[in-house]
Amino acid sequence: MTFPNERKHELNASQAGTVTLGDLPIARMAFGTMQLPGPGVWGEPRDPQEARRVLRRAVELGITYLDTASYYGPLVSDRFIVEALSPYPDGLIIGTKVGCWRGSDKSWIAETRPEQLKTSVEDNLDRLRLEQLPLVHLRYAEHAGVPFEDSLGALIELRQAGKIRQIGLSGVTLEQLTAAQKLVPIASVQNLYNLVDRRDENILEYCTKFGIPFMPYFPLAMGSLGREVGPLTTIAHRHHATPAQVALAWLRARSPQMVLIPGTRSVAHLEENIDSLAIQLDAQEQRALEENAEIASLPSFHH
Ligand SMILES: NC(=O)c1ccc[n+]([C@@H]2O[C@H](COP(=O)([O-])OP(=O)(O)OC[C@H]3O[C@@H](n4cnc5c(N)ncnc54)[C@H](OP(=O)(O)O)[C@@H]3O)[C@@H](O)[C@H]2O)c1
Repeated sequence: MTFPNERKHELNASQAGTVTLGDLPIARMAFGTMQLPGPGVWGEPRDPQEARRVLRRAVELGITYLDTASYYGPLVSDRFIVEALSPYPDGLIIGTKVGCWRGSDKSWIAETRPEQLKTSVEDNLDRLRLEQLPLVHLRYAEHAGVPFEDSLGALIELRQAGKIRQIGLSGVTLEQLTAAQKLVPIASVQNLYNLVDRRDENILEYCTKFGIPFMPYFPLAMGSLGREVGPLTTIAHRHHATPAQVALAWLRARSPQMVLIPGTRSVAHLEENIDSLAIQLDAQEQRALEENAEIASLPSFHH
């Protein structure tokens, strides 16, 4: 089956509506920069010019939130953001994450000790050329052995010192989220959630109920949901859309607090993802996608 590849709708991200990260409004259609570095989120992009074009086009098409981390590359996504977009346009929010770094063997290493988090925030300020980080997600890892309250406490101190405006949590449990809220307002939650993997449904429900923006990572299951699988194909055909667009439309409809941060290296896919805003799935279509065994058996991420 073929899918349309020319831009039919020419939509703008603002048409997704907005949510607020604490006091910072953003469009619910946003962009994640993890795909910009080379394969395995390591090293330089295969096509550096296209990487810069993707970032500029994202902003041109109304995206007001970029999700990044210094460990993408490492230091590659952030450098491209600065090169392509600094000085930043008004209203553009750059959200980052701390609590992780990359080993020289490309491994992902937890760095959640308070002093590591403080150094990371200072480095982010410097590299992103910002006086205050608008949103910092704590990417907490239980196995690192640092108590959650200690890691969060470091970010709270940095917020009190004016280095951070809003705090978000990533890879968080409901218990950690509610405990954190007793200490500081939580402006966003970033957990794994997509059509394939809905184990954090309870956290999405909580965020929806209490008005906390929820930005699922791997919204396209790292590309698996771009494939012609089960009802993704038939529903895509019905809407003159692509499977990836249907997967994003499904996600968007799950909650008014849902913020989409699909990542891509190509302007064509970026535009396609924004154009998914034209698709409104009905309840039957939502259910058909949720209940399909073929979709449920897709890998929700891979390394
Ligand atoms: N908090 C965390 O721990 C955490 C973890 C992982 C990710 N994140 C954030 O979440 C963001 C999203 O995750 P992700 O970018 O890794 O994965 P994703 O959005 O689920 O999928 C990205 C993959 O989908 C493909 N793709 C994108 N648009 C497509 C389209 N229209 N049709 C077909 N394929 C398409 C991309 O390939 P092409 O490049 O070829 O388009 C890429 O391989 C990241 O960028 C990052 O900001 C956070």
